[in-house]
Amino acid sequence: MGDESRNRSKSRIIVTSALPYANGEIHLGHVASTYLPADIMTRYYRLKGYEVYHICASDDFGTPILIKAEQEGKSPEEYVKYWHDRDEEDFRAFGISFDIFHSTSSRENVEFVQKIFQSLYSKGYIYEKEVVQYYCPYDNKFLPDRYVIGRCPYCNADNQYSDACENCGRVPEQILEPRCAICKREPVKKASRHYFFRLSAFADRLKSWLISNENLQQDVKNYVLRWIEQGLQDWDITRDITWGVKIPLDDAEGKVLYGWFDNHLCYISTALLLARMRGLVNEGSTDREFWNSSIIYHFIGKDIVYHHYLFLPAMRLGDSNYKLPDYIPTRGHLMLQGQKISKSRNWYISLRDFINIFDPDYLRFYLALITPYSQEDLNFDWDEFASRVNGELIDNIGNFINRALSFAGRYGIREVREDYYDGEDRESIKEIERIAYEVGTIIERNELDKGLRRILAFASHFNQYFQSREPWSNIKSPNKEDQGRAYNCIYVSVNAVHSLALLLAPYIPSSAERIWAQLGMDGSVHEQQWDDASRLMIRVGHKVGSVKPLFRKITREEVETQKKRLGKYIAHG
Ligand code: 2FM
Ligand code: ZN
Repeated sequence: MGDESRNRSKSRIIVTSALPYANGEIHLGHVASTYLPADIMTRYYRLKGYEVYHICASDDFGTPILIKAEQEGKSPEEYVKYWHDRDEEDFRAFGISFDIFHSTSSRENVEFVQKIFQSLYSKGYIYEKEVVQYYCPYDNKFLPDRYVIGRCPYCNADNQYSDACENCGRVPEQILEPRCAICKREPVKKASRHYFFRLSAFADRLKSWLISNENLQQDVKNYVLRWIEQGLQDWDITRDITWGVKIPLDDAEGKVLYGWFDNHLCYISTALLLARMRGLVNEGSTDREFWNSSIIYHFIGKDIVYHHYLFLPAMRLGDSNYKLPDYIPTRGHLMLQGQKISKSRNWYISLRDFINIFDPDYLRFYLALITPYSQEDLNFDWDEFASRVNGELIDNIGNFINRALSFAGRYGIREVREDYYDGEDRESIKEIERIAYEVGTIIERNELDKGLRRILAFASHFNQYFQSREPWSNIKSPNKEDQGRAYNCIYVSVNAVHSLALLLAPYIPSSAERIWAQLGMDGSVHEQQWDDASRLMIRVGHKVGSVKPLFRKITREEVETQKKRLGKYIAHG
């Protein structure tokens, strides 16, 4: 990165979430590792007053998508459009606040990808080589990846794709008894000219980037460095199919680029499109500077580490126009009731099914609480989901807010007598004064689960405070001092509710908005300042809004019904 970008103020942040393949619905596994953490971070930085953009798109190209479209008798364009729109709706319903949800097959991305291809090609980072590939003489097609099925040489399972055995999880070097996935007949081998990206040329530069970037998680870095030590292979970026970015060379008819060549470039092309749409590129400045003067976060799940820690940076290094990521927060896989998620066994829960039954914020709350900032796998458990939501969100947070606001509604927020404050009151005010900074620091370290736990500790503190002050009896006392203490408690507690609304806004955005309204505040909680969570903003005389229970408890029956659905066949449309 040149001095040009180092000297610029670092107040703009671009957050990207891994692009979902446009071939199926979003499920709990996707949101836990990627979209939810990215959204919490984005919402937090917005409240902190940063200029932050959350970028995503559907990942439209590739062999599996083409095959599925063909099976459904649709054009690939039609097919991906359906999933693009469907995913966007689901994300919105779950409260994921993208600034833009674009697509890899968009004109903007295709042109951008071709430009980067040209740049890498002209610098000698892309070369041609002849490879021998399966070819179906009946369908007149080369058969990449999923177009060939056969028997796995490792575990002997039949009907496996040539690029991955679903039974044993290995990638067969040479599948046995190969068949064409379209006509099921035996393919022949045929030579084809392919383009390769010279990944091997970047080993040293990748290594020094990894070592010098202190924001990357150490454990991920360690194994990526080990891969580099073992030697990087150049990367076949050509597919002999029609659905993909056309290779921008004269003699490359009938060939397209591999999906992993174009998809991550869509982070950049989409961010630049957004910048143009919103008029964010200053006069005299370039798109490139928009990207290069931003802090870049790429949120991903651990299954795509190779692509984000090697291919992506190598391509950017080769082109040398767009800066590398500052952060690549990488999280583990979600298990379901202790077992691996599997669509074919119906051991999986789609996001849409889930939020049709439960408040999306319940899911956000629970997933945020159980998802650490690490590669460790996490487990969704229905009983734990219910007990965490009922116990920690509803009994702890909801209960305190409801009590404090009900009191303030009934008795008003009256004059504060500081001379009546005792240690407990003062400690509670201090708790408010330190909370914004403390939670903010934890979130900025990406420890979103710990941030939420700190907020829960804050709510527990105020539950105890309210309980021990007994404002319900003191307020009726004939003794002026007792009464004064009760009013002080209401004042401090309502201010704690104000803090909670702000602190919870990144985690459970629609509930935070409801708290804000019940508190009697104007506007949206999402347009406030994070640091106000540590200020006593609610003044004497303030009128709270109409107060009602914020949440509904999850019943035992609901949980049992959900548990029974897992593993049973349900038609997914
Ligand atoms: O693994 C996946 O689901 C891919 N669709 C992720 C793509 S992220 C990219 F664009 F870098
Ligand atoms: Zn065939």
